[in-house]
Amino acid sequence: MTPSEEEAVRLHRKHGSNDAVIRHCKTVAMVTGIIAEEFTRQGKEFDSKAAVAGALLHDIGRSKIQTVKHGVEGSKILEKEGVDEVVVQIVRRHVGAGITPGEARTLGLPANDYIPRTREQIVVCFADKMIDAERVRPFEEEVRRFERKGHDVKRLLALRRILKADLGVDPETLIFGKIKGTR
Ligand SMILES: [Fe+2]
Repeated sequence: MTPSEEEAVRLHRKHGSNDAVIRHCKTVAMVTGIIAEEFTRQGKEFDSKAAVAGALLHDIGRSKIQTVKHGVEGSKILEKEGVDEVVVQIVRRHVGAGITPGEARTLGLPANDYIPRTREQIVVCFADKMIDAERVRPFEEEVRRFERKGHDVKRLLALRRILKADLGVDPETLIFGKIKGTR
């Protein structure tokens, strides 16, 4: 099944997510919705329902663990709950700007590919990187955070570049334009 917002919140509560995580997930879902709408408006194929559900549930694994493993933990919870594999994969691949099989092994994760690759996976991963807690903030702030943490900045920039090329417009400009219009 592809959970609705109500069902996603119920799953969060069941697995012990706190309110801050739920609010963060709702913000990521809102931004995902903005990009989804643009793909749809352009007549490009986009599974909005799965992407929004993935966004709503992307951090459910934080109820178990706070490390980079929370993506895999979240995907396990959702698999057990019978959530569609498309949604499960979005959750599994949202951490950082993606994790390669080699890095996964070093991190103690099953040596799988956790790089966001489908349109929906890329959108949710990107939307998450635009948001600090509940605040949609410039992408540049995430770039600086990656630099401070010693994360792979090139991969983060590639995520944005890939999405921009696919969308035909800059996703950050689109997001801030839409948010301004509603506030
Ligand atoms: Fe996360």
